[in-house]
Amino acid sequence: MRALLALAVVATSAQAGDIERGRALVADRTQSLCLLCHALTAAGDPNQGNLAPPLSAAARLTPAELRERIADMRRFNPATVMPPFRSTEGLRDVAPAWQGRAALTEQQLDDLVAYLGTLGRP
Ligand code: HEC
Repeated sequence: MRALLALAVVATSAQAGDIERGRALVADRTQSLCLLCHALTAAGDPNQGNLAPPLSAAARLTPAELRERIADMRRFNPATVMPPFRSTEGLRDVAPAWQGRAALTEQQLDDLVAYLGTLGRP
């Protein structure tokens, strides 16, 4: 029984988002591009975007709400400039290497959500 419980815990944590991987991904301008448009905090930060709300404001959202916004913001604003990180629908001029492939994996999405959830905490 104890072994079974331990297995269940391992299975759950293997799928959960990783805060440190999420932090690294947000900062990675070659992969996520988040900071091209967003700053991390409302105070703004040098070399970060000011086109979109600060990511710290997103901590008010639940993990599910964060997920669906990062996956495809067009569900909430069809005219958004935010890339749909988990969709390949309706895109134009996609480079051959990216055709039919979402920009981020489900695991990366989980990692981002885990990290963004920490931003609003004191
Ligand atoms: C090209 C610019 C751009 C990039 C790159 C971008 N975003 Fe956004 N994002 C926006 C804009 C603009 C909004 C405001 C919503 C809208 O467009 O209506 C937004 C909204 C959001 C929201 C909802 C914010 C809220 O307070 O309701 C979240 C969460 C978010 N972005 C996360 C991300 C993450 C995480 C990344 C990187 C993986 C990212 N964004 C990359 C432009 C961008």
